Amino acid sequence: MEMACFNGSLSPRLTCDRPRGRHAHCRAALRYLPQRAASFPGRLARGAAVGRGRRRLAAAAEPQTLQEQPARTEGSGAAEACSKLILVVGGTGGVGQLIVASLLSRNIKSRLLLRDPEKAASLFGKQDESVLQVYKADTRNTNDLDPQMFEGVTHVICCTGTTAFPSKRWDGDNTPERVDWDGIRNLVSALPQTIKRLVLVSSIGVTKYNELPWSVMNLFGVLKYKKMAEDFVRNSGIPFTIIRPGRLTDGPYTSYDLNTLLKATAGERRAVVIGQGDKLVGEVSRLVVAEACIQALDIESTEGQIYEINSVKGEGPGTDPEKWKVLFRSVQSN
Ligand SMILES: NC(=O)c1ccc[n+]([C@@H]2O[C@H](COP(=O)([O-])OP(=O)(O)OC[C@H]3O[C@@H](n4cnc5c(N)ncnc54)[C@H](OP(=O)(O)O)[C@@H]3O)[C@@H](O)[C@H]2O)c1
Repeated sequence: MEMACFNGSLSPRLTCDRPRGRHAHCRAALRYLPQRAASFPGRLARGAAVGRGRRRLAAAAEPQTLQEQPARTEGSGAAEACSKLILVVGGTGGVGQLIVASLLSRNIKSRLLLRDPEKAASLFGKQDESVLQVYKADTRNTNDLDPQMFEGVTHVICCTGTTAFPSKRWDGDNTPERVDWDGIRNLVSALPQTIKRLVLVSSIGVTKYNELPWSVMNLFGVLKYKKMAEDFVRNSGIPFTIIRPGRLTDGPYTSYDLNTLLKATAGERRAVVIGQGDKLVGEVSRLVVAEACIQALDIESTEGQIYEINSVKGEGPGTDPEKWKVLFRSVQSN
């Protein structure tokens, strides 16, 4: 796959052939950070590849004003950003859309597997395929999970899900059993063993689905199937991290201007409470879950670990990888 990065000008697709670590134009690449409160969809250029068949959603290069931003030092380094390709499964969901928005803001390439690729266009606008690629797939169908979808993928974040109780979202048999168990099993089975890290979003309470109050939540099996999926991931041989959120707050958002949204909610419920052993009970901002998933990809000590996560009012670690390292480490027994 061609390595392409943005420069800070009107040219949306400059092929980047520099050795790793020397992507100066990458570091200065187009960014639409939360602080800039810019319109999310309009910020990056232009066109998204939609597969299988990689139908283009749009390809017209429109004039735009892009300004160079100082290099980010926190989070994934820019050079590393250029070498990563993160597969996000469930990227149109509440947590997923925040993950994708955040990856775009860091100029990290991502590939989305979606049942409805058109949703990507409406959520993320027209993006160049060097930063955002979209493939059509339903994780329940093994035939949809074509090996070409995983070519070049270095990391995976899976945040698919459906409602715990019968709802419209179960239409077409999209139940917890099919999404949280069959879907994850199919996905993980299809992933190449070269994946550096798979982050799975699961749930608190999965180890206690027979106990009150969890048994109520589990009436239709959601916690049981999520636990089965966790176990499948743990036995897959792929380096993994499992994030078990408490009840999700903040979103899902219907606004298209995700960037403004990220800014608007910064500072609210961003202090992170993290645990292990499925003892934590509480709520967590989707923004915090999204950030935890992205941070876990690069923090070595999170490999093979399962974390429960809540958040409360306060500043929290933000996007600072050192603070996330300390947080994750603070609860680990090994
Ligand atoms: N809600 C809570 O309080 C809570 C608490 C703990 C854990 N969780 C878990 O946290 C995760 C994120 O939750 P969320 O509320 O942010 O998610 P969400 O809004 O429900 O989004 C779920 C995502 O999964 C995708 N999806 C559903 N069925 C699919 C299928 N068959 N094939 C491919 N993609 C499929 C959806 O895409 P479509 O647009 O195609 O439907 C959507 O992008 C989920 O695993 C959820 O179960 C939630």
